[in-house]
Amino acid sequence: MSLLDQIDKNKLPKHVAVIMDGNGRWAKEKGKLRVFGHQNGVVAVRDTVEGAVAAGIPFITLYAFSTENWNRPKLEVMALMELLVATINKETKTLMDNGVRLNAIGNLSLLPERCRRQLEEAIHKTSANSRCTLTLALSYSSRWEIVEAAKKLAQKVQEGDIAPDDINEQLFSESLTTGDMPDPELMIRTSGEFRISNYLLWQLAYAELYFTQKLWPDFRREDLYEAIIDYQKRERRFGMTSEQVN
Ligand code: IPE
Ligand code: IPE
Ligand code: MG
Repeated sequence: MSLLDQIDKNKLPKHVAVIMDGNGRWAKEKGKLRVFGHQNGVVAVRDTVEGAVAAGIPFITLYAFSTENWNRPKLEVMALMELLVATINKETKTLMDNGVRLNAIGNLSLLPERCRRQLEEAIHKTSANSRCTLTLALSYSSRWEIVEAAKKLAQKVQEGDIAPDDINEQLFSESLTTGDMPDPELMIRTSGEFRISNYLLWQLAYAELYFTQKLWPDFRREDLYEAIIDYQKRERRFGMTSEQVN
């Protein structure tokens, strides 16, 4: 039985979030420059997204570039931005063929103009697709996002649109950049690092975390399926007892 067949279609996570890590180490292992790792990471992105669509996952969110990644050497940052432009350009057809709607979260105003334009174009082109929403977290950090949400809500209070007491968990969630998505039930991080790195801190409150030693360029849909199968074996208790949830 294939891994895909082993997935219980009635217990699919609606939203899978991924921290694509390990490109640099992958390249280094091969005696190449870090950029080579990023380039090969694109293959993993394509296969994982296609795999998610085939499994029927309606939302997948990929951490592609963090706010903190701006502090990397200028040459690497520039190469990553170039790669982003080229990839979006090249992969829009794949997105269309698979019914994938592209979305982006993060401080996009920091992206180079050409990058932002390319991104907006692809988002617009794919906006009517409805099988799966692929969100790229770009120039993203969760603390940035939470502060932005707080500012938005403070503004609304100041303008008299809402009272401070109207602010509750639901309104706060809706004020985040992921406001129109369900929270991820499963978060996958590659490369053997056991941390969240400022990713979706609010949204991951009750997510199941899955860590794999695989470096991102080696990740394929089968690895996604293994993570989903592992997720489906877990008991999600949400603070209750095992007896209560069974
Ligand atoms: C993930 O791979 C890609 C980005 C953060 C842009 P890394 O570039 O972090 O690779 P490692 O962790 O150094 O191996
Ligand atoms: C997290 O990876 C960000 C992305 C995958 C885009 P990093 O490689 O930047 O994370 P740290 O610095 O090791 O925590
Ligand atoms: Mg890394």
